[in-house]
Amino acid sequence: MGAELNIDTSNATVSEEDLIKYKGALKEAQDFLNKSKEGTGWVRLPFNYDRSELKRIQSTAVKIQEQCQVFVVIGIGGSYLGARAAIEMLGPLQQNLPEIYYAGINISGSYHAELIDRIKDKDICICVISKSGNTTETAIAFSLFKQLLLKKYGKQASERIYVITDKEKGVLREEAEREGYVSFVIPDDIGGRYSVLTPVGLLPMAVAGIDIESVLDGALKEAELADRSEKYAAIRNELFNRGKLIEIFEYYEPRLHFFAEWLKQLFGESEGKEGKGIFPAALALSTDLHSMGQYLQEGNQIFFETILNVEEPKMDIVVPESAGSFLAGKSMNQINRAAMEGVIEAHKGANIPMIKIDIPVLNPYNFGRLVYFFEKACALSGCLMGVNPFDQPGVESYKSEMRKALK
Ligand code: PA5
Repeated sequence: MGAELNIDTSNATVSEEDLIKYKGALKEAQDFLNKSKEGTGWVRLPFNYDRSELKRIQSTAVKIQEQCQVFVVIGIGGSYLGARAAIEMLGPLQQNLPEIYYAGINISGSYHAELIDRIKDKDICICVISKSGNTTETAIAFSLFKQLLLKKYGKQASERIYVITDKEKGVLREEAEREGYVSFVIPDDIGGRYSVLTPVGLLPMAVAGIDIESVLDGALKEAELADRSEKYAAIRNELFNRGKLIEIFEYYEPRLHFFAEWLKQLFGESEGKEGKGIFPAALALSTDLHSMGQYLQEGNQIFFETILNVEEPKMDIVVPESAGSFLAGKSMNQINRAAMEGVIEAHKGANIPMIKIDIPVLNPYNFGRLVYFFEKACALSGCLMGVNPFDQPGVESYKSEMRKALK
């Protein structure tokens, strides 16, 4: 169990009075999430997780750990980002676990040729994840890695292929049944970007040695604290209505890079429709202060900042004497914290609205809490904006144009 995750809205420039007008709409949004069956399965998931499914995920992960040196996760968007966010945030947790690689995350021939070249002589298992079963990137990568496994293991290849897809629909389900691959189900009422706490995220996390029961415990804890996500959702809408069109997720720990990528997808695909939506962006600090710091301080003030603050990073190191008087002897984490505090003060001076999420430590429990907090806040925020946070009609347009170009 971790200490408390804290949502600090004291610098959000939004008062309690400003939020009163959202109360009615928030109640309607909560009712919608509680009652609707379309895309809302994740809301109830932490309360009624199928424990036998959880055990099957854990035992499959152990089998994969024993079977291979390299585990390739094949999937994109919601079928990829959550697992990678957790693994990059928390891993590696033990020695001798399979190395994890990701395929089908782009259509780059170089990326995939280099990856195959790097791992081809090792023992490999693959896990293909796709709700629809027909996503182009995933289908291409699956065919490449299946070919590699068939070449290496012949008929035994099927014992090294794991599938996570729809219960009944799609070519991937058909193939899994036909070939006898070990498979898991993505529930009907949970869409890609809300699926981290299903086998989509949990199986790769478990292979990486992450305690997935603790992830679910964290999500459950957060699910019991509805008003925090309500407040954040209302503040976002208030800022949007004041012309703050961009939300910048800022983090000072590089381990949060893929969590921020997951946030971009979650908010971008959930809210960006019908000409509406806050544009989600991410900056790695202090790195990006040296490229974007000037814009933040004095540029067009159409953004607000959501700071992901890790209070106790995993490791630390002391700066040697040679670094100079006011740095020497201090720990890097201390200096990193001073950088964050300095940025906050400077941005307060520029009237930039800021929300700070204090994460006591990066652990599976807090990962679960963060996932649930942001999923709930995002869904509520989309409802307040008057869009359906669970569809993505716009994603189809480029796909049909690409199909035309290929023909
Ligand atoms: O959130 C979403 O719905 C998308 O990002 C999908 O996860 C992504 O397009 C991959 O789709 P699929 O799981 O069907 O392969």
